[in-house]
Amino acid sequence: MQNKTLIHPLPTEVRPQLIDSFGRVHNYLRISLTERCNLRCFYCMPEEGIPLRDKAHFMNHEEVFGIAKIFNQLGVSKIRLTGGEPLIKKGAKDIIANLAKLDTELAITTNGILVDQFIDVIKDNGIKSVNISLDSLVAQRQEMISRRNYFDRIFKNINLLIDEGFNVKINVVVMNNVNDTELVDFVELTKDKSVQIRFIEFMPFNGNKWSWSKGVGFQKMMNAINYHFGEEKVIPLVGNPNDTAKCFTVENYKGSFGIISSISNPFCGTCNRIRLTADGKMKNCLFSSGETDLLTAYRNGEDLIPLIKHSIGTKKAERAGLDTIEKLNTSSLNTKNRSMISIGG
Ligand code: 5AD
Ligand code: SF4
Repeated sequence: MQNKTLIHPLPTEVRPQLIDSFGRVHNYLRISLTERCNLRCFYCMPEEGIPLRDKAHFMNHEEVFGIAKIFNQLGVSKIRLTGGEPLIKKGAKDIIANLAKLDTELAITTNGILVDQFIDVIKDNGIKSVNISLDSLVAQRQEMISRRNYFDRIFKNINLLIDEGFNVKINVVVMNNVNDTELVDFVELTKDKSVQIRFIEFMPFNGNKWSWSKGVGFQKMMNAINYHFGEEKVIPLVGNPNDTAKCFTVENYKGSFGIISSISNPFCGTCNRIRLTADGKMKNCLFSSGETDLLTAYRNGEDLIPLIKHSIGTKKAERAGLDTIEKLNTSSLNTKNRSMISIGG
């Protein structure tokens, strides 16, 4: 690993914090580097795609870094790069290298396709946690879900990361009659591999034709897993306060699995997350249709701190006010937000 020249000079104790009206400390920023992707997962991207916009709408390298630095000064101590697919952003290598100079933990969520080409960049910049999206262990089904045929490459890259000692999580969006029969097969991967599988409840975003009837809830997933392995063999793990997943391990298995129950049992009470979209809009919640335009303000030389504080101060208690399944099921409410592809996981 390279020697880091740390840009943040203040010790942790005296650093400011972004605290919302419910007392939640926001120290985790997820930055989407691009809303483009080399896959087309149907739960993420509308079938017709999203309109391509001129590159002037999006943060360039310097702007990503400049805005991230301000968040770092406001107490953000962890940054995760997302997309779209972050590794297809032009200059991704330099952006990663620069962000690594901030006094934050740096992590990435990728679809895995380009991981082998970026393995040195990931290693040299101190990234330890890599999340990969993979929704099926059956190549043909993965192709149906992502509308592209890259299964072998993704799987090879997952193994590469595990062999290289990264903390690897595999994100699986679980959907009825799509991949819900694969829960046990995914958990079986953890028998010999030091990897965490994260089963994610299907969430509504613009263009993904969501209805909760297509999703699989926490309890149903647990029932299937407990039934197969025997409840006494499925051991709950103690998590960290801001974890989104409830985690378990099967007795004597090397890895673990977790369930992210954003729909059936949201974990908003401990939310510490802020999102920055590729076009420089801050979102105080994944489900929020409201956004704060930081990029325009940054380009105008305005002070971003009051804008960021105002956004955090107006954050709602739960799922941006979509606090019941009925509200989520109301399409006039659940389509106001962007598609997942342009929010960034
Ligand atoms: N529901 C749940 N999870 C989703 N993701 C993308 N779209 C959805 C959705 N509609 C997840 C993918 C990816 C992560 C960034 O977000 O699994 O890994
Ligand atoms: Fe691309 Fe990830 Fe969206 Fe799939 S889920 S289309 S891999 S950004």
